[in-house]
Amino acid sequence: MSDDASATGLEIVRTIADLRARVSAWRRDGDVVGLVPTMGALHEGHMALVRASLEQARRTVVTLFVNPAQFGPNEDFAVYPRDEATDAAQVADAGVDLLFAPRVEEVYPEGYATTVRVPGMGDWLDGEFRPGFFDGVATVVAKLLLQALPDVAFFGEKDYQQLQVIKRMVRDLDIPATIQGVATVREADGLALSSRNAYLTPEERAAAPALYRTIGRVAERFAGGETPAKLETWAAAELTAAGFAKVDYVTVRDAETLEPVQAPERPARVLAAAWMGKARLIDNVAA
Ligand code: PAF
Repeated sequence: MSDDASATGLEIVRTIADLRARVSAWRRDGDVVGLVPTMGALHEGHMALVRASLEQARRTVVTLFVNPAQFGPNEDFAVYPRDEATDAAQVADAGVDLLFAPRVEEVYPEGYATTVRVPGMGDWLDGEFRPGFFDGVATVVAKLLLQALPDVAFFGEKDYQQLQVIKRMVRDLDIPATIQGVATVREADGLALSSRNAYLTPEERAAAPALYRTIGRVAERFAGGETPAKLETWAAAELTAAGFAKVDYVTVRDAETLEPVQAPERPARVLAAAWMGKARLIDNVAA
């Protein structure tokens, strides 16, 4: 059974069977199908993914599922912002065809046992600081891709490591979908949009753009020949001085494999994660 969200024509489905019925009918008609997986609390960053899909695909499915498997025991699963009506209105206005908003039992029914793991790249950086995070992401994204079978799925470059883990998983498992990254959307002062920015106090919000500024400087100085080790130490001190309570990492990595790099020989990426108050902010830029 599906709900009709509004007069705009957006349909909301909650079961895999309903999702598959809609998508397979479109595919039979030859329509290109785009998928935008989200955990809701939609902001302009998500809407950039939606717009990319609307431009490239005849049909767009947005998924809304706060995935318990990607939250650690001390993380913010219980308080993660949830407002399905507002999210649905936003995607309806944008012209999305279908919202898949399954209940937890639909995705992980009684007895569910399988985990998709991407060892190596999934264990580094956020994988180290948030153990199990990428297992949860890879598992749910594999499931969503196999449930919807889109032609193309869109993910933000803001979560750069996640994007690389998903690309690797899709290649390794021969999942027949193209994974497309979409550029990070930023506030005027450079702060990357994130649902977790809602946790920042006004003072923390004012200090937070130092993350983007600092990794931008690291990228420039790396291109100018300075070593990652020196730049990482400099950046951590810079972030601490700007008010970040804890710096999980600032690092220069190969843009595809996420292996450490020493010199600007291939495309690289500066990635960082640091705590501002209750918010763990992540960001990255090309180097
Ligand atoms: O980036 C997110 O919002 C989530 O990690 C994703 C890809 C929707 C999987 O739950």
